[in-house]
Amino acid sequence: MHKIIAANWKMYKDRTEAATTAGEIAAALPDVLPKERQVVIFPPVTSIECVAQAFRGHKSLAVGAQNFYPAPEGAFTGEVSVGMLRDVGAEWVLAGHSERRHIFGETDEMVARKAIFSLSHGLKTMLCIGETLDEREQGNLYAVLERQLTAFFAARPEGMTGDALVGRLAIAYEPVWAIGTGKVAGPGEVREAHGVTKALLEKFIGKTGKKLPVLYGGSVKPDNAGALIALDNVDGLLVGGASLEAQSFLQIIGA
Ligand code: G3H
Repeated sequence: MHKIIAANWKMYKDRTEAATTAGEIAAALPDVLPKERQVVIFPPVTSIECVAQAFRGHKSLAVGAQNFYPAPEGAFTGEVSVGMLRDVGAEWVLAGHSERRHIFGETDEMVARKAIFSLSHGLKTMLCIGETLDEREQGNLYAVLERQLTAFFAARPEGMTGDALVGRLAIAYEPVWAIGTGKVAGPGEVREAHGVTKALLEKFIGKTGKKLPVLYGGSVKPDNAGALIALDNVDGLLVGGASLEAQSFLQIIGA
């Protein structure tokens, strides 16, 4: 399975800044990219097209969107559709990022609806899950991950089998307490949470579950990326702050 190194630029960078950083990454990539790694960047929606342009011709580089509304079109002021995102070059979307859940109030059901919609309309989807500090301290890691994944798997339409998800759905485990805090989860904590996630995937779709990549996100930096990606059940990384500078992200890609 290809390891996926993803960058979430959140609400940072105008088009000039995005094109510059994407260009630097594309230019340096052949030197730093280990075999069998895929890089995906999620810039703000206004920069998707220029990042896609900078990545043209690079098979290992793709661009995605951080958000969308799960309807083909309609009177949804302020929203964008997956068709519009594909039109500007997006191949991926994020669904269920903790900031969407906690700042914008997206429920498990809304996240599931969005992920199913994007998968059904030709976009690869990175479904984010993860527990808050309170939930972890109360011993609810398993229950939270199970609840978030159940919402998605229970809502799948009949034709969306496990096999249909391979190569199209990735899971990003991001403990909320590690996002933007500088507090990275320890190797034991990451291994445990990824073990739980993979066991749940197997519970929902059997052995095919093993073929879905599970990424880790939360305070990934150049100096901890190598140890994280080396863990046997970590299939990639989702990087926020440390992906904003090309040099720092390139170090993580090459870790
Ligand atoms: O999507 C990325 C995560 O929110 C991680 O952000 O690397 O700044 O902690 P961070």
